Amino acid sequence: MQLQREKAAPQSVRTDLLAIPVRSGSARGPDLAALDRAVGGRLLDEARRRRHDIAKQGSVFVYQTHGDLPAEQIALIGVGGEGKGPPSAEAWRRFAGQAVDLARRSRCKTMALSVAQGATRASTIEAVAEGALLASYQVRGYKTAAKASELKTCSIVGASPSRAMAEAQERGRVLAEATCFARDLINEPAAVVTPAHLGKVAQSMKKEFGLRVRVLGLQDLKKLGMGAILGVGQGSIHEPRLIELVYSPARRAKLGPVALVGKGITFDSGGLSLKPPGNMEIQKRDMAGAAAVLGAMRAIAALKPPIEVRGYVASAENMPDGGAYRPGDVLHTYSGKTVEVLNTDAEGRLVLADALTWAAQGAGAAAPQCIVDLATLTGAVTVALGRSVAGVMGSDGALVRQLVDVGRETGEPMWELPLVEDYRPALDSPFADLKNIGDGTAGSIFGGLFLREFTGGLPWAHIDIAAVAYADKAQPYVPRGAVGWGVRSLCGLVERMARR
Ligand code: BES
Ligand code: MN
Ligand code: ZN
Repeated sequence: MQLQREKAAPQSVRTDLLAIPVRSGSARGPDLAALDRAVGGRLLDEARRRRHDIAKQGSVFVYQTHGDLPAEQIALIGVGGEGKGPPSAEAWRRFAGQAVDLARRSRCKTMALSVAQGATRASTIEAVAEGALLASYQVRGYKTAAKASELKTCSIVGASPSRAMAEAQERGRVLAEATCFARDLINEPAAVVTPAHLGKVAQSMKKEFGLRVRVLGLQDLKKLGMGAILGVGQGSIHEPRLIELVYSPARRAKLGPVALVGKGITFDSGGLSLKPPGNMEIQKRDMAGAAAVLGAMRAIAALKPPIEVRGYVASAENMPDGGAYRPGDVLHTYSGKTVEVLNTDAEGRLVLADALTWAAQGAGAAAPQCIVDLATLTGAVTVALGRSVAGVMGSDGALVRQLVDVGRETGEPMWELPLVEDYRPALDSPFADLKNIGDGTAGSIFGGLFLREFTGGLPWAHIDIAAVAYADKAQPYVPRGAVGWGVRSLCGLVERMARR
């Protein structure tokens, strides 16, 4: 779907579907009144007759114009507001998402989104562009008779034709494109997306985006002594990879670099601590953290913030063959710390341990000012927070707060979980420096406490995205499947840090 901007007033736009946002209360806006007049008052009349509360957030009222207007249908979509102030960016994303969804389901070829009511704000245009493009995403898939969506163009109408608006729309497009790129990687089967495949994808971003890219393979990992990534990967025919991507701004930044680290388990069978079938069938998504980092690096390379950003992906496949690592094995991590493996299904924290140490060192260059990791780390985070909120924890309160704030803007809500010091001794092992699981309680927090051991004392935050990475049923602007969660928040964080 192509996104455009049109200067015309909503009532003169020729399109298959014209979506109008309706705010609650008195601030309904000029569009609606003008449109209603243009159709002889029948629009609002019919809504009233059908007792439809057009302002209720998320409600959709469709009206056929029967030739009274160049637009064939009008959809009134409630965006809330009133009392709570203007609609939020998330309300605009959902508005655009709902409209695109409706247009797709009604086989429209063209559609238009009116934004006159929020046109003064660039952030509204950005959110509308983002929501529309995210909702238009189609899983590539392998259906032999798949039909491409008939929806070809979506026009944003009512925005002032300023440079700022054009830039906001472009930002929305870049962020949506990067999110859909992450979705594609996650939705693809694990037989296709192997650690080597992720390495190739990263390499291809070298040319396309001017990033510095380095992919460490089996021999490199052995030479460096990355015993944790190697241990997790040793039961698979697919060799592990540690991927590094660096974005350097054209002008040298005053601020230290930001490091982003993603869990890239391309398939998590659980290893010898094998998962039951129901838990295993969803584990191609276990590289969603990696996909978010790769997606964010794409967007960052396009948005060009004045700060260095380093992306790291720790990738392996967790499989149970005769050479697999076992419960009871002791792994020698890159940090020098030894880890007793009690459960081979707690593998994410192991691959991240080596990647975090590598990231914290800065590999020859300066150490980063902070590290943020994203990982589908624990099923327990679903129990704690459900499927709409990610768990965030870390060693730096300010960093965690920034992430929570950013998530509120990007529509990726996060909630802090405490790294309870009293729990830390449960990670002590009689045979090694650490064991890889806690005492069976607070699963997500033990994951965080384990990771903290490998962050070199740097400001660090960990986002557990196990519950939010994938939509088992469609959500506003997220078709069923991978969400691409985190791309927008990582970019948002980086841009905030660059502004400081
Ligand atoms: N990849 C899983 C977590 C997961 C669960 C991701 C569901 C996506 C959906 C992770 O590696 C895992 O197996 N975690 C274990 C940790 C436990 C062994 C301490 C879990 O949550 O059971
Ligand atoms: Mn696991
Ligand atoms: Zn896993």
